[in-house]
Amino acid sequence: MAEQAQQVRSLADEVEAAVAAAMGEALPAELANTDPLVRRSDRADFQSNAALPLARRTGLRPRDLAATLRDRLAGQGLPWLTSVEVSGPGFLNISLSDAALLERLAARLADPRLGVPPTQTSQRVVVDYSAPNVARELHVGHLRSTLIGDALVRVLGFLGAEVVRQNHIGDWGTQFGMLIQHILERPGWDWRTEGVSALQALYRSAQEAFNADPAFKERAQRRVVALQAGDEESTAVWREIVGESQRAFQRVYERLGVLLTPEDVKGESFYNPWLNDVVAELRDKGILQESQGALVVFFDDILGPDDQPVPLLVRKRDGGFGYAATDLATIRYSIRELKGTRLLYAVDARQAQHFEMVFRTARRAGWLTDGTEAVHVKNGTVNGPDGRPFRTRAGGTVRLADLLDDALDRARQIIAERETGLAPAELEEIARVASVGAVKYAELSTSRLKDYAFDVARMVSFSGQTGVYLQYTHTRISSILRRSEAEAKARARANATEATPRFVPDVPLQPVERALALLLDEFAATLNAVAATLEPHRLAAYLYALAKAFTDFYESCPVLKADTPGSRANRLALCHLTRATLARGLGLLGITAPERM
Ligand code: ARG
Repeated sequence: MAEQAQQVRSLADEVEAAVAAAMGEALPAELANTDPLVRRSDRADFQSNAALPLARRTGLRPRDLAATLRDRLAGQGLPWLTSVEVSGPGFLNISLSDAALLERLAARLADPRLGVPPTQTSQRVVVDYSAPNVARELHVGHLRSTLIGDALVRVLGFLGAEVVRQNHIGDWGTQFGMLIQHILERPGWDWRTEGVSALQALYRSAQEAFNADPAFKERAQRRVVALQAGDEESTAVWREIVGESQRAFQRVYERLGVLLTPEDVKGESFYNPWLNDVVAELRDKGILQESQGALVVFFDDILGPDDQPVPLLVRKRDGGFGYAATDLATIRYSIRELKGTRLLYAVDARQAQHFEMVFRTARRAGWLTDGTEAVHVKNGTVNGPDGRPFRTRAGGTVRLADLLDDALDRARQIIAERETGLAPAELEEIARVASVGAVKYAELSTSRLKDYAFDVARMVSFSGQTGVYLQYTHTRISSILRRSEAEAKARARANATEATPRFVPDVPLQPVERALALLLDEFAATLNAVAATLEPHRLAAYLYALAKAFTDFYESCPVLKADTPGSRANRLALCHLTRATLARGLGLLGITAPERM
């Protein structure tokens, strides 16, 4: 494949392999295969700390072992190595040549994939994310799952995995009995004209009636039975409710710019036809137990506060199925039909026990095997600016659409304060892109397990670790490159050397240029770390470090007014590669990289 030919081995990988080889020569086999502990370092380019823990196990003095490793490393004839020294208690400081660095960057710049190898091609990843509930609006609780899932879809897809998106919406269950009954009892009222917010209000009033009026409760329960039996009138109303909700979800997805489409929806109702079959299979395999008339799965080590095993409720006493049965059918389907090798569930951490029990049941059933993996990609809670769970002033859940409106208002103000000289329509588009990027970056730069406070003012700021800062850095680089093109044209050599950026190998680099260059060389490793840990914040943090390194570089290294043509060429090429890496990285987080703002 052409793509493979372009793979660029990062210098960090080179260094790691070289230290590992030195360890292999210097140490007995059982010690040689340990982590060479190579890190970026401020003193040299890289540092290996391997000698310290290994010396303890060999009885050597750390500095002596480090000296042996140094000699072995120096003896490998590595073209990129300029110096290797022992320092401190036994660290190895490793420095690389500018030419090696520039050569790597040149290869990355020449490749549309920026030299990132497709490492996930053997994976078929099923990503379950967003999963809102019908007749309710997307609210702040769905933000995290939706954005984390989407970023993973993009990163894993870019790394060559085949990705299947699944939106497991809550479109089934007893609540539909009361909803449908409520609607049918109000024949004159057309909720459709009012859309999903009317549905949400309806949901509340249906619930009130259900709790207060025993006669309505009974009619609602009969309605569930009718719906489950496929009654035509009930099914027609159900379909309308689901359709209306889905259109509302889709509007928010489009506004957020997430990849989910109506085709990705496989709601709870989709798995209905298989529930009996799943129960039969689990029963045949001896996995189900009867407990007070219900069918459940127990686990010795999953105990409740009363020290009794917590049941996974597969079939209720009344014969009905719930959330767990549906998820068992889902995981079986994802493995058998979708042929997933890696199943990811981007869902709130509060569902951890549910997923643990579902996954373990799927293993017992033989659906999940050694070659397949299921991971609950857990996320924490979004709090309000006061650090408490985010609520409206009236105490209700916060609609996602309202959050985006708030962010947009704020972005408009901030953009208006700047003197850009841009037309109103363009400013409005910039505010839109900045506000969505701000919300996404704030989410994706937080470790997904942590709770965080939704603070629009902080998110939509041009400084600090924000999406706007990254987008702004991208626009600054774009503007430098526009100026360089204009200059080139003015000198009537539009298609001359500068039109195609290129690195010139034998020009020495300044420390800030090296720092930027080494970061640019780490892009692939960052993406692989995201794929391994399923933590998009690693990419978000990398992009921030990259933007900062660029800012440092640009403050001390004139680009268009560089002293020599070679240095100007390299600085321009650094601008090009930084811009491409930022744009690609932001794109993998689902964030737009604008040309101006
Ligand atoms: N609809 C569920 C909720 O709002 C989330 C579903 C997550 N996915 C799953 N396969 N259980 O809590």
